[in-house]
Amino acid sequence: MLRFFVFFVIFGFSESRILHRPRDFRCGRMIVFGDSLSDDGVEAEGESHGFLRNSNGKVWSEYVTNMLECERYTNYAYSGAKSGVGNFYFDTFSGIQWQVNQFLTNNKFLADEPLVILQTGGTIDFFSGDTNSSEVVENIQLTIQNITQTMTSGTFVILSLLDVSNSPGVQAAEDSEALQERLGSLIAETNRQLHHIVLDNDLGTRRLNPFLRVKLIDINTIALAAMQSLNVSEPFTHHNPDLVPQQIYRYAFHDLWNPSTIIHYQIAKEIVRNLQQF
Ligand SMILES: *[C@@H]1O[C@H](CO)[C@@H](O)[C@H](O)[C@H]1NC(C)=O
Ligand SMILES: *[C@@H]1O[C@H](CO)[C@@H](O)[C@H](O)[C@H]1NC(C)=O
Ligand SMILES: *[C@@H]1O[C@H](CO)[C@@H](O)[C@H](O)[C@H]1NC(C)=O
Repeated sequence: MLRFFVFFVIFGFSESRILHRPRDFRCGRMIVFGDSLSDDGVEAEGESHGFLRNSNGKVWSEYVTNMLECERYTNYAYSGAKSGVGNFYFDTFSGIQWQVNQFLTNNKFLADEPLVILQTGGTIDFFSGDTNSSEVVENIQLTIQNITQTMTSGTFVILSLLDVSNSPGVQAAEDSEALQERLGSLIAETNRQLHHIVLDNDLGTRRLNPFLRVKLIDINTIALAAMQSLNVSEPFTHHNPDLVPQQIYRYAFHDLWNPSTIIHYQIAKEIVRNLQQF
């Protein structure tokens, strides 16, 4: 019994060193901007902003900062943030552009090779009625420009919009097929434009900022794969007389719109894997 325990401790320790301490990516300061997907609540350690965590455990950015053992972690994400200044529920603050401006007001230059991760926002704009992607794309482009203007070194990661068109909220909506199609195509179009904004050979962010490591990471492939074996038609609930303990691990969604922490973990692993490829 004791021998087994000792084996487990040693094995567990060495495994976590290999998985969580990539030698080739040193993370001094990590800074996150985003919406409901990235909000880690008000109680999180480090410099955290936001309203609440929309998951049943850590969100992707918390996993990433742990995996990379970042020395400092700042998360500006707010639930309901739109790609511009406002929120789904009010217009005055918390949007991605507002977050970036707020941050830049206090940090004129980002020294010491920061890791900046932009979860662009935009999905919530589409929920509040935007019928084409042009405003969202323009907002994202301006946000990216503003961030790069203050970065003189480091790594700038931009995440693609998460396609939530298969979420339980959309499935339960009136006219759900039309909504699913509209959302799916707006998000796909935005992601196409984002690809162009970041990776264009002449005018892309990467080309214009050769002193930065710029990376566009597609989180949809990994999220879809992680969701494949899970229940996507309804969010998990424990209000169920027939509940068995294992069921908590079988649901892709925490609520109608937001993924469970299992999906966040897979997204985080994908981001870390990408960072190790530089
Ligand atoms: C970009 O930064 C400038 C000055 O720092 C600010 O006035 C402007 O509003 C910002 N634009 C966006 C879209 O965030
Ligand atoms: C997108 O919508 C805006 C108004 O919301 C409109 O001015 C613009 O022409 C539209 N663009 C396309 C490509 O349909
Ligand atoms: C998903 O979960 C709900 C609620 O627990 C259940 O009624 C439904 O049959 C499940 N769907 C699948 C495809 O397993």
